[in-house]
Amino acid sequence: MYENPFHVGSFSESAFLITGGAGFIGSNIAEYLLRYKAKRVVVLDNLATGFIENIQPFLGIPGFEFIKGDITSFEDCEKACKGIDYIFHDAALGSVPRSIENPLATHLANETGFIQLLLAARNSKVKRVVYASSSSVYGDSKEIPKVEERIGKQLSPYAVSKRGNELYAEIFAKTYGMEITGLRYFNIFGPRQNPNGAYAAAIPLFMKALLSHEAPLILGDGNQTRDFTFIENAVQANIKAMFVSAPVIPGAVYNIAVGERVSLNELIGILQKLTGTNLSPVHRPERAGDVRDSLADIRKADRELGYKPQIHMEEGLKRTLEWFRGYAAMNKPGK
Ligand SMILES: NC(=O)c1ccc[n+]([C@@H]2O[C@H](COP(=O)([O-])OP(=O)(O)OC[C@H]3O[C@@H](n4cnc5c(N)ncnc54)[C@H](O)[C@@H]3O)[C@@H](O)[C@H]2O)c1
Repeated sequence: MYENPFHVGSFSESAFLITGGAGFIGSNIAEYLLRYKAKRVVVLDNLATGFIENIQPFLGIPGFEFIKGDITSFEDCEKACKGIDYIFHDAALGSVPRSIENPLATHLANETGFIQLLLAARNSKVKRVVYASSSSVYGDSKEIPKVEERIGKQLSPYAVSKRGNELYAEIFAKTYGMEITGLRYFNIFGPRQNPNGAYAAAIPLFMKALLSHEAPLILGDGNQTRDFTFIENAVQANIKAMFVSAPVIPGAVYNIAVGERVSLNELIGILQKLTGTNLSPVHRPERAGDVRDSLADIRKADRELGYKPQIHMEEGLKRTLEWFRGYAAMNKPGK
């Protein structure tokens, strides 16, 4: 999948922890680290929304270790952090509607879990933590494109939890001298993203519908826009943020996207072309808490991390469709 490593040095002397590594983004980071011969890759995941299948191929690889555990438990975090140099923190309960239905569960996993992990990372003297924030922190800001320094008011408990992570990251970085970098992901998509369940994201849902010859469901008029970002770009951003040698600003955050926006109607058009289908979408009312338009200014990540998205949307969609076509568990229950 990856043609070039995103890091000039070697991983062979380094131990990595990936929280949420049995999920979509985390398992893709794990795959990259293992491909480029990391000494140790530990995954900490409670399988709340992740799948053992996502890491099954790694289980026999020397240096790979799966800990079924919870980031809200300090004990689990401490165990997972033992001997670790670098942490990619991607464990969280995703989804805006999930957080509206159960704000406490989102808070526990996303906020309490984040603090427990940072405390364990601090005790273990981990060199750097790169964690997942989200474009949802921009909330009701109408500004397009979104620039890191200016955000609006968050529109959901999920967005508040991610903003909370950013504030804690900054405080932990300043107070305890830790290196912690946040990545505001903008609609990441690609292989291993779960197409099932009430909280699935738009691209896997649309792909699943079209490949099953069903009409895709659009919430709203379909003119809402997103900066859809292929997973390989997000993996690149993680690796670059982890190894950039320039001094890290305490608790810095970066937009991780492509810097192009597409409406849901346009997205369906591209997917219809790629799948050779012409099923028209069905429209239902918009969801509470969703932002209308989303487009990132990615110049800060380029300037400070050397992040340059290499895979544009159509190529990413082709690769994702290829994976979905071979995805045996397309109809397994959602989480
Ligand atoms: N996918 C996107 O477009 C996107 C956009 C913005 C932010 N994010 C963030 O990126 C991260 C990864 O998202 P993803 O799309 O891979 O989602 P995912 O649901 O596939 O992965 C999250 C993983 O975290 C695990 N997890 C959840 N709660 C846990 C807990 N308490 N203890 C241990 N593990 C736990 C889940 O089991 C899952 O494997 C999340 O923090 C998410 O909020 C994702």
